[in-house]
Amino acid sequence: VVTGTTWSAGAGREVRVVESAEALAEAAADLVIDAASRRPPTGIMLAGGATPRRSYEVVAARAAPGAFAGVHLWYGDERMVPPDHPDSNHGMVVRAWLGAVTGPGPHVHRIRGELPAAEAAAMADGELRAVGGEAPAIDLALLGIGGDGHTASLFPGDDVLDAGALFAPARAGRRATATLRVLSAARRVVFLVSGAAKAAVVAAAIAGPDRALPASLVAPAGGVLWLLDRAAAARLPAPGDPR
Ligand code: 6PG
Repeated sequence: VVTGTTWSAGAGREVRVVESAEALAEAAADLVIDAASRRPPTGIMLAGGATPRRSYEVVAARAAPGAFAGVHLWYGDERMVPPDHPDSNHGMVVRAWLGAVTGPGPHVHRIRGELPAAEAAAMADGELRAVGGEAPAIDLALLGIGGDGHTASLFPGDDVLDAGALFAPARAGRRATATLRVLSAARRVVFLVSGAAKAAVVAAAIAGPDRALPASLVAPAGGVLWLLDRAAAARLPAPGDPR
């Protein structure tokens, strides 16, 4: 298990810093495998983008055969491209992890990027309601953060920030995303962030809710864990510093 410094950055905001991007991937993989071992009834939501790819490769390398049998996997968002397109989040997860799974595997609820965003979002919404009911509580949601403070495909200024559905189209139909309603209802939310380029936005998002930084609006009752490598944590006050 990867150990690192952990501290509270305020109500509902825990920070854990590990040394390197590789240590970050290992820590995230351990969280995902641990969540799966508890047979989460609603499932695990995966982040897209570049940061989590290595984590998914580590999951594939470390998970015991059948570790994810029957576990529902969801996506925080998807780009509206076919799954074999290089930009597809599902395609990335298949290449990094799912393509190597033999034997009983997870229930993968990919967002159908080949369809129009509204249709794909409605389908994902229906699938999540079927599993988790009208107020589904995802057991573990992994999220990333963009330099502009977006998370999943919840970008600053996008109407989707106020969407009442579980999944909704975003980015003028170029994306489909889980909404703040779903993310803030998750039992556990982990932001996985690596690299110096994210240090400023991490510090700003942790400082408190700000509609200009959608990641800062994810506020599950159980709080969020910011899982950072040292470079991404560089702009945070050291634990115990006066705010
Ligand atoms: C996506 C992700 C997105 C991502 C951030 C950070 O589909 O791209 O859902 O929210 O987490 O943009 O992306 P990187 O990890 O590539 O920096």
